[in-house]
Amino acid sequence: MAESTKTAKLTIDGKDYDLPVYAGTSGPDVIDIRKLYGQAGVFTYDPGFTSTASCDSTITYIDGDRGQLLHRGYPIDQLAEKSHYLEVCYLLLYGELPSPAQLEDFESRVTNHTMIHEQMMYLFRGYRRDAHPMAIMVGVVGAMSAFYHDSTDISDPWQREVASIRMVAKMPTIAAMAYKYSIGQPFVYPRNDLDYASNFLRMCFAVPAADYEVNPILSRAMDRIFTLHADHEQNASTSTVRLASSSGANPFACIAAGIACLWGPAHGGANQACLEMLQEIGTPDRIPEFIARAKDKDDPFRLMGFGHRVYKNFDPRAKVMKQSADEVLDLLGIEDNPTLQVAKELEKAALADPYFADKKLFPNVDFYSGIILEAMGFPTSMFTPIFALSRTVGWISQWKEMISDPQLKIGRPRQLYHGETLRDYVDIENR
Ligand code: ACO
Repeated sequence: MAESTKTAKLTIDGKDYDLPVYAGTSGPDVIDIRKLYGQAGVFTYDPGFTSTASCDSTITYIDGDRGQLLHRGYPIDQLAEKSHYLEVCYLLLYGELPSPAQLEDFESRVTNHTMIHEQMMYLFRGYRRDAHPMAIMVGVVGAMSAFYHDSTDISDPWQREVASIRMVAKMPTIAAMAYKYSIGQPFVYPRNDLDYASNFLRMCFAVPAADYEVNPILSRAMDRIFTLHADHEQNASTSTVRLASSSGANPFACIAAGIACLWGPAHGGANQACLEMLQEIGTPDRIPEFIARAKDKDDPFRLMGFGHRVYKNFDPRAKVMKQSADEVLDLLGIEDNPTLQVAKELEKAALADPYFADKKLFPNVDFYSGIILEAMGFPTSMFTPIFALSRTVGWISQWKEMISDPQLKIGRPRQLYHGETLRDYVDIENR
């Protein structure tokens, strides 16, 4: 961590405490409160961690006011346009864009780890056919620690590396198998001659009875969806991965914890919830009714795919996603897609409404991604698993950074307690 540049003064009951202030390369300064409890006997209170920096990181930076997302300094719109997912994975994991030889080596390592242990097939068969693929993913990814014992020792940098490659490589296989299982089709094995996105599409949509040609435009759109979701600094699931790994848990268990957190509708589950909402709206004439509900304080309904904890101007990923939605529907010859129509009209209506403007609520990455995925043939239940497989590299990069940080401590927040004070146990006959 950099040297303290300034000092913040905190006065409690007339007594002053000096707290060091650190400046990062971007973003607000942070006040170091680590010694505050020892010195002043107080904790800080910050539910939802809206004002708390939980780590010192060099991976991803979001400027919410400018609508900017940078991976190792590179803006996401440039990466989405000029790069591709595996190159972005390399960038996130190792800090720099790869040379051609480094990229070739990395792609070959990922490609050669895409198969999963054959015995893991039996795990899938233990689930009900109608299990949500996210439920299967949480279980199967956690279970990887039971199959890959040679990469669970987190103190060994080589084992950390092998675990990282294994997860980036196997996640598409696991997500595709979860999908195939849910529709009662045979599993399709990965193929080494295909790129990452094409391989995933083939594992999802090929059947042994017929050839499957991957359309390069769909493969590019899939790759973009992976790229746009690759990392997003200290969001809920990433913080979950960091918290789980702070205890020294193995990497597969930690990523399974991240998947569980991502599942929630306020986070990764929003893409499924958003498409379902757009379909429920159905026609543009019903938009005012849904906007009114979103604004009604007595109605828990929110416009899914709108709003973000950090972006308060626009989500740069949503722009690329909107463009991709147009391209994919065009390619597939889907003209006048009613859901896309509703999405565009809803976006226009909400942006023109002072409620959304005043609260700085804009479409987020999930607003258009569901439309693309549906057009590709994915059911809504696969939207969040696709997010999970894309985000795996972000979780792993953050996990690796954390494990090699000499300041690593087990995560252990404090609380403001308002429960009963000490009281004596009452025997059951006296209650
Ligand atoms: N529709 C209607 N009102 C909203 C919405 C929305 N989508 N989002 C926020 N608001 C309102 C809240 O009611 C609140 O109003 P108030 O100040 O009058 O009480 C205000 O805007 C601030 O909202 P918070 O929930 O405090 O903001 P927070 O930063 O905690 O939440 C979140 C961000 C969870 C993303 C929220 O905007 C939301 O629920 N959006 C819908 C779900 C969604 O799309 N999630 C995906 C996020 S992106 C991702 O995970 C990839």
